[in-house]
Amino acid sequence: MYHPIKIAIVGGTGKVGRYIVTKALENGFHVRMLVRNPNKLTFKDDRIEIVQGNIQDVETVHKLINECQIVINTFGRPPRETPIYSYVTENLLKKMKELNISRYIGVSGGSLTINGDNKNIINRIGAKLFEFFLPKMMEDKKKEWNILSANKHIEWTLIRLPFVREGFETGDIKEKLTDMPGTKITNHDIASFIINEIENPKYIHQAPFISN
Ligand SMILES: NC(=O)c1ccc[n+]([C@@H]2O[C@H](COP(=O)([O-])OP(=O)(O)OC[C@H]3O[C@@H](n4cnc5c(N)ncnc54)[C@H](OP(=O)(O)O)[C@@H]3O)[C@@H](O)[C@H]2O)c1
Repeated sequence: MYHPIKIAIVGGTGKVGRYIVTKALENGFHVRMLVRNPNKLTFKDDRIEIVQGNIQDVETVHKLINECQIVINTFGRPPRETPIYSYVTENLLKKMKELNISRYIGVSGGSLTINGDNKNIINRIGAKLFEFFLPKMMEDKKKEWNILSANKHIEWTLIRLPFVREGFETGDIKEKLTDMPGTKITNHDIASFIINEIENPKYIHQAPFISN
């Protein structure tokens, strides 16, 4: 199957994002990937364009997403470092609007609570614990959500994840809009879910929870 579509990926070397590039290639997409250190890359393919740089640099954002049709953002940062999720997402969305790119898929954690959620008691306590122990990160994740949910120009999807484990594709992915259906998910399954959401968009302007 040939897709003349190019996907820009932020975070494609991280725990969550590391199989998205290969999954996208398997499905016939072309990929442009942001990397800070190309030596970290364990694979090579003619269909991968590498942009070396830092996502905090606006010129790098332009180089990364220019002439792409889809942006996937699995940027991450150690929980105790100053969080910049909202800043990264806001800059990506601004540049997407300027370049007329309409599709964005990002990730967040299951501890993000938004209007309309109906979390069970355990997940409510889990979310409170995250808010208590990582208040800056959770405030910033909330800010990122507010930026996305106010944006009507871009067809965004924000996927809320449980604990992510290194692992193969199980094909058993539970999805729900109001509560986290499980406790973990493999990063191969995340990649499949994201590529499937590109091919068969189901959650535009929504923030589904997924798990195994
Ligand atoms: N891991 C989990 O269990 C889990 C669970 C729920 C939600 N999430 C969410 O998933 C997202 C990704 O988390 P993760 O665990 O995959 O994080 P990670 O393993 O630390 O990966 C972070 C990714 O972001 C890239 N990155 C970081 N700073 C950058 C910068 N300044 N410029 C360009 N790229 C940069 C890293 O590139 P380098 O390779 O250059 O460092 C790497 O590709 C986060 O939003 C996190 O909250 C994760």
